Amino acid sequence: MLDVAVLVSGQGSNLQALIDACAQDGFPARIVAVISNNPGAYGLERAKKAGIATSVINHRDYDDRESFEEAIDQELKKYKAKFICLAGFMRILDGRFVNRWKDRILNIHPSLLPAFRGLHTQERALEAGVRFTGCTVHIVRPEMDDGPIILQAALAVDPEDDADNLSRKVLELEHVIYPEALKLVALGRVRISGNKAVIEKASYPEHGLISPEPTKV
Ligand code: GRF
Repeated sequence: MLDVAVLVSGQGSNLQALIDACAQDGFPARIVAVISNNPGAYGLERAKKAGIATSVINHRDYDDRESFEEAIDQELKKYKAKFICLAGFMRILDGRFVNRWKDRILNIHPSLLPAFRGLHTQERALEAGVRFTGCTVHIVRPEMDDGPIILQAALAVDPEDDADNLSRKVLELEHVIYPEALKLVALGRVRISGNKAVIEKASYPEHGLISPEPTKV
């Protein structure tokens, strides 16, 4: 069982998707804490409703990024978290923190990376006239919205779409692929090779899957 802390800053709909997935029988991860830099984040309410421990580490209470991140690190240790999911966490994490948690931080981003890093992704996708948009779950590297890609989901842009309804459609896809990506990681099926993530085939019978090959007798 992988013990995960989820970091949020806002509404936490991806957090909810992770909470719901973790509540399913046999899901290989559990959320040990939800940490927010924003005391007003609705994600904290979602966590409390699910009986998950919450902490607020408000960046405004710290002189610099280093001490803020040190406080987060302490909190993660307190909850014995072994893995971090960023779910709408709106602070940039410094290289030192990211390297300390190397290959142990996942993020979800509302674009088909490496296109459209940063904010306002659907506005920019529409401006660029792309035909497809989507979302990406990736391992976090020190560069913003960079790192080995675990899963992506894409949808076709409808000529009628505006940025708001495109964002809504993409968010629905996020709620599908984020739990799926966490599951792959927690099952030990993700191997990092350079700047890529390799997803290993499920072995039989370890993960309870039916072997694609008939058993030889
Ligand atoms: C999502 O679009 C996610 O991709 C981005 O921030 C947004 C968070 O939404 N990183 P929510 O708080 O999970 O509802």
